[in-house]
Amino acid sequence: MKTVDIARFIRHIGARDFVSASSMLEDIIKKETNVNTRYALEQAYKTWGTPKQMDEVPNNIKRFIYNVNKNVVLNDLKLENNIRKAIDYIVDTFNKKDLLQSNGLEPVNKILFAGPPGNGKTSVALALSKDMNIPLFKVNMAEVISGRLGETSKQIDNVFREVNNFGKGILFFDEIDTFATKRTYDDGCDKEISGAVNKMLQEIDSINPNILFVCATNVSDELDPALLRRFNMKLWFKNPTREQIEDYIMEYFDKRNVDLDAMILSGIENFKSKSWSDAEMYCEAHFRRIVLDSETIIYGNEWIGNE
Ligand SMILES: Nc1ncnc2c1ncn2[C@@H]1O[C@H](COP(=O)(O)OP(=O)(O)OP(=O)(O)O)[C@@H](O)[C@H]1O
Ligand SMILES: [Mg+2]
Repeated sequence: MKTVDIARFIRHIGARDFVSASSMLEDIIKKETNVNTRYALEQAYKTWGTPKQMDEVPNNIKRFIYNVNKNVVLNDLKLENNIRKAIDYIVDTFNKKDLLQSNGLEPVNKILFAGPPGNGKTSVALALSKDMNIPLFKVNMAEVISGRLGETSKQIDNVFREVNNFGKGILFFDEIDTFATKRTYDDGCDKEISGAVNKMLQEIDSINPNILFVCATNVSDELDPALLRRFNMKLWFKNPTREQIEDYIMEYFDKRNVDLDAMILSGIENFKSKSWSDAEMYCEAHFRRIVLDSETIIYGNEWIGNE
């Protein structure tokens, strides 16, 4: 099978059934024995998905969502076995929700991603949409929250209604703590937001089972307890261990055919930062240094001039 055949196949399948079409394609790719062809097919496959699906999103929801174009798939991410298993379970139960529902069971479609910064919460939401071939509706809270009384609840209502009507996708509230924390309730001072959080809670209870509702936060302790209770799966994305970071760095340079030089090695010894994102920035800084044949190393996660 060639890349053009994939394109033809996608056109033929159209928008009718992304999920089954994608699993067929994955099967075809897996069976391809020629490594180079398989790589080309994988790349072609990666380009199919969210951007095309976004074209089908009605204009009235477009204003509430970001169009996310970052190309990331689950296999690009380092995930603990139990997290990866849980994510595969989400996909599996999503595909089998009719069976679940016919047995009176709820789909596992209300999910919380929590944990320290830079460990893949946002990336997994993007990758899930890619891997499941359903659009990602990443809610733009700045558009939703309004200074006009009662307007925020209305916007929340709009987002859920439009996404429910659209019928299939991931409704993603990133950094949900900016919106639904305990404080909003306790203080009683921000009625506008607490009213909107209440509205959200009602909407979650009656969400379309074909929608995957995902929230992400670094501060799950501070979330509104009523919201926390509504998730039927909670995943914790922890910092990698020292050993995992070392393996990641070796693999990064190995893939690029770059030998680990003294600077990289001494940097690993003194490596202080912790997240996967830090490890990635470390590798990029050194790879840039090597590509530019320069002495300078600029780490994205460090301040310059703030000693
Ligand atoms: N598990 C991972 N494996 C590989 N790379 C990762 C992983 N987690 C994060 N990264 C890299 O770090 C970058 C930042 O990750 P991401 O935005 O998903 O983190 P996050 O958990 O959402 O952080 P925050 O809490 O700050 O929003 C990603 O673009 C990705 O390249
Ligand atoms: Mg994030």
